[in-house]
Amino acid sequence: MCGIVGAIAKRNTVPILLEGLKRLEYRGYDSAGLAVVDGGALRRIRSTGRVAELEKFAQADAVSGALGIAHTRWATHGAPEERNAHPHVSGGVSVVHNGIIENHDAMRERLRAKGYAFVSDTDTEVIAHLVHSNLQGGRSAEHTLFDAVKKSVAELIGAYAIAVVSESDKSCFIVARHGAPLLLGLGDGENFAASDTSALIQVTQRVVYLEDGDVAEITLGGHTICDARGNTVARPVFVSQLTAGAVELGPYSHYMQKEIFEQPMAVANTLEMVTNAHSVAPQLFGADAEEVFRDIDSVLILACGTSFHAGMVARYWLEGFAGIPCNVEIASEYRYRDSVPDPKALVITISQSGETADTLAALQHAKAIGHRHSLSICNVPESALLRASGLRFLTRAGPEIGVASTKAFTTQLAVLALLTMVLAKLRGRLSAEGEGDLLDSLRHLPTALASVLQVEPLVKVWAEKFAGRHHALFLGRGIHYPIAMEGALKLKEISYIHAEAYAAGELKHGPLALVDEHMPVVAIAPNDALIEKLKSNLQEVRARGGELHVLADQDTRMTASDGVHVIRMPDHAGILSPILHTIPLQLLAYHAALQRGNDVDKPRNLAKSVTVE
Ligand code: G6P
Repeated sequence: MCGIVGAIAKRNTVPILLEGLKRLEYRGYDSAGLAVVDGGALRRIRSTGRVAELEKFAQADAVSGALGIAHTRWATHGAPEERNAHPHVSGGVSVVHNGIIENHDAMRERLRAKGYAFVSDTDTEVIAHLVHSNLQGGRSAEHTLFDAVKKSVAELIGAYAIAVVSESDKSCFIVARHGAPLLLGLGDGENFAASDTSALIQVTQRVVYLEDGDVAEITLGGHTICDARGNTVARPVFVSQLTAGAVELGPYSHYMQKEIFEQPMAVANTLEMVTNAHSVAPQLFGADAEEVFRDIDSVLILACGTSFHAGMVARYWLEGFAGIPCNVEIASEYRYRDSVPDPKALVITISQSGETADTLAALQHAKAIGHRHSLSICNVPESALLRASGLRFLTRAGPEIGVASTKAFTTQLAVLALLTMVLAKLRGRLSAEGEGDLLDSLRHLPTALASVLQVEPLVKVWAEKFAGRHHALFLGRGIHYPIAMEGALKLKEISYIHAEAYAAGELKHGPLALVDEHMPVVAIAPNDALIEKLKSNLQEVRARGGELHVLADQDTRMTASDGVHVIRMPDHAGILSPILHTIPLQLLAYHAALQRGNDVDKPRNLAKSVTVE
């Protein structure tokens, strides 16, 4: 979703701003822009194309300046047109914004009454006029841009991260955050701000994470942060572990491809702490985890998108092995529902980004209605979600750039399997032998993932056929039903083929009516307790002319025939089977999208980090 970069330096900041925007492209956007203060005058360029196009405009117009802000916009209020692209301008003030201002209508009326004219459909434009009006004509000892922004944000309702420059003051830019990510980057005699660390990797690794309610003034020599109560505060400086190599494509054609093939390493890194262990300990989830885990009597999982599917898989593990009641709910539904809190429930939020507005709000809601215990499983260190949770586990998948989540999902599942082991052990449901066996399975997982990746050429043949279809149906049973859901989500996200997932037993209650020779059906068919039931469901499909694409285990008795295509999984992983079965489905979506000529890493209309509700 929208990305922000800001810079103040003794050199031209335009290349820094553009490089930062390129590194934020993965978040999803439909227009881009930047504004610099160039010799005392504000210059702005905007484009509804890619950042590369904005770069051409900047070169053609010789835009440069030692102070600037830049933005990639993912449209919420107003179509993706140039007049709605950021930065927005009011007099000499320019603003970029990520988030949604909820009271923009009332503010627009007030500002119109003061004589301000609006030229866009955005909520952001009100911020530009508001800051301009609060600045009252320029810098004086009592009335700085910093003061004007502090005064302005106090009037805003909603979620935002903003960056502001004014041509009347070349010595600083101002940022503020409330419910949307923003951090400062500290350089040597130059300073920066951005939505995430990857945007600044080319200039600094020293970052300061702003808290909600913070407003900061950034100058050449340093920064000053005011918290929500107006007190000047010092926030800790972190040295980001992110390396430029981690966000480079290397030999791959797309980030999604890279990330699919990084899964053995991503899972190995995530499980590093248990690789050499003979047993699992609650402390893997935080110093207080044992006390919390002993107090809980149920689990409530809240998440969105692919992370929600990880939660659905976990329910089968947590109830089946740890014997602990588990509910899984879509965060955007939970946050607005009157639910009955269980103070003894462990609220688990799962998120690759740790920024998803609905998941963050769902956690806040859960706490507000009386939940005391929380655990976050997340791939981004220092993300808002990790900081808001009592217990935390950082998946170590490395930066995930492709919008469609892949390695974040399988690492989430690995952690959820580990959590199941810990809870099962604490509840007396895991013998020492069982623990040893499961640890062996976890250790074997990276190798098993690597061998499953070898099915790519076979999946590619399926994908070539899928690419010409309009619809697809994914079937699974039990713990593989959520994997079918994930397969369908991947396909629709990047290939734009309409895909549905069904628990195979439910087929005859509706979706069977859709099945004919034009409907390819993918079935996830591991050799588990439900395999015979699944086979009967597949017969129902075949009898209606549906073409079956079956992902079977080596020992699943299922043979290819006319209209029945079988790929045998080269390895199996016992209860971890859902993790392995995810891989061919990711590859299917990837190759189908490629065949259709889609932008695999940046699918239309979607964003990587959904920081608005
Ligand atoms: C977006 C992404 C998905 C992701 C979902 C939840 O829709 O495109 O890949 O699954 O958000 O994001 P989260 O960061 O909370 O896992």
